[in-house]
Amino acid sequence: MQFPVKRGAPASQKTACAILPLFDASPLQGVTRDFDAASGGQIARFVKSGHAAGKLGRTAFVHDLEGTEAQSALLVGCGKRGEFGAKQLRSALAAVASALGNTGIRDAIAYFAHDTARGVDAYYTARASVESFRSKAYRFDELKSKRDPKPKLARLGLSAPDAAAGRELRRGADHGAAIAAGVDLARDLGNRPANVCTPSHLADVARTIASDYENFGIDVLDEAEMERLGMGSLLSVTHGAEEPARLIVLDYRGGPNDSAPVALCGKGITFDTGGISIKPAAKLDEMKFDMCGAAGVLGTMKALGELKAPINVVGVVPACENMPGSRATRPGDIVTSMSGQTIEILNTDAEGRLILADALTYAKRFDPRYIIDIATLTGACVVALGKVHTGLFTNDDELAAQLLDAGSRSRDTAWRLPVDDEYGKSMKSNFADFANLGSRWGGASSAAHFLSRFAERKGWAHLDIAGTAWLGDAAKGATGRPVPLLMDFLLNLRMQ
Ligand code: BES
Ligand code: MN
Ligand code: ZN
Repeated sequence: MQFPVKRGAPASQKTACAILPLFDASPLQGVTRDFDAASGGQIARFVKSGHAAGKLGRTAFVHDLEGTEAQSALLVGCGKRGEFGAKQLRSALAAVASALGNTGIRDAIAYFAHDTARGVDAYYTARASVESFRSKAYRFDELKSKRDPKPKLARLGLSAPDAAAGRELRRGADHGAAIAAGVDLARDLGNRPANVCTPSHLADVARTIASDYENFGIDVLDEAEMERLGMGSLLSVTHGAEEPARLIVLDYRGGPNDSAPVALCGKGITFDTGGISIKPAAKLDEMKFDMCGAAGVLGTMKALGELKAPINVVGVVPACENMPGSRATRPGDIVTSMSGQTIEILNTDAEGRLILADALTYAKRFDPRYIIDIATLTGACVVALGKVHTGLFTNDDELAAQLLDAGSRSRDTAWRLPVDDEYGKSMKSNFADFANLGSRWGGASSAAHFLSRFAERKGWAHLDIAGTAWLGDAAKGATGRPVPLLMDFLLNLRMQ
């Protein structure tokens, strides 16, 4: 799909459909009023007769628009003008993408940048437009014998009121396309079943990113190398599996040599049976999504490569299966992590924290300015936040503010939950330094606290995406979250 920037008088631009904002107010405003004037009041009459309304997310087509070069208009309700912001823009765009999706229209022009309200500038309008339309166009049909029908819309023009806005629209559209490419990759990896998306597959995808784009280095560690590094915690999870484990290290150096990188660690459990502490059968297929943290990291790295972003980011992805078997780790087994801390494994289903423990220790060798881990870590986080917000855990208020802001700007939101030391108390062990299982209450926070013992520093944050990485039921599939949040964070990074 293409997103050309368009200049010139709106009503004289040739298109099958002009997408016009309709605010909940009369008379008509801004660019929609200009179209109305050119059409001799056709839009106002249409609205007055009750065919369209400014209610957020309502859409209506005006066919055979007179006096303009647009064959039709799609009026999209944007709510009250004073309340229009990033969130409202996303709702309006989603409504437009579905309305156009139900037609055979091949090209349209969007005029949102003519009416930018507070907080939604031309750059952001373009970025959000590209992300929304690309997301609507996403299909996962690579494993079907007949492909799903492709969307008809091939070109969405972004109309610029002036040259400066045109440049901002171009920049926003380019960022949006890179983010969409990252989201699409994260969704593909999440959606691929565990018999396709193995740890070695994740490593192959990382190698492809490293060779397709500039500024990447790649290192893939096998089990023998992890053994030599003393990664007893990570390796304990893969013991029951035939499929070999991998530690993928993808190093992007787009910034100055002396600038400390951001480290991203993504949980890559390609299938989580629970191990000996085996899970019940219901919805167990969804545990193929337990590598969505890894997918989010690889998606983000790809987007950075697309943009040639001027920063340094290292992705560290521990990848393995969590299987039962005669060689699998037993409840009560004690392992020594790379950090030297010993762990009593009381529940083999609390495996995400075990692989991330060694990945976090490994990531510290890059002397990162920030370490952020991303994981489908706990059912408790889904209970707390549902499928709306990602759980954010950090003791660093500055970093929390940056991540929360990135979430609301990108509409890939996070909500902060606590990780203070109280949550560590329930993980006491009589036999090892501590256990991998805490109290039933506050399970998302005790899991986060476990990780903090390995990050051991300020500048660390944990994103629990157990609720947000995929949808279930009829809409079952990976969402690509939190690639938009991470990209927004990295593009607006404050290193102080
Ligand atoms: N991958 C799961 C977390 C999960 C469960 C995500 C359901 C999304 C939906 C994780 O490895 C896990 O099994 N966590 C356990 C931890 C418990 C044993 C302390 C959980 O949340 O039940
Ligand atoms: Mn588990
Ligand atoms: Zn898991």
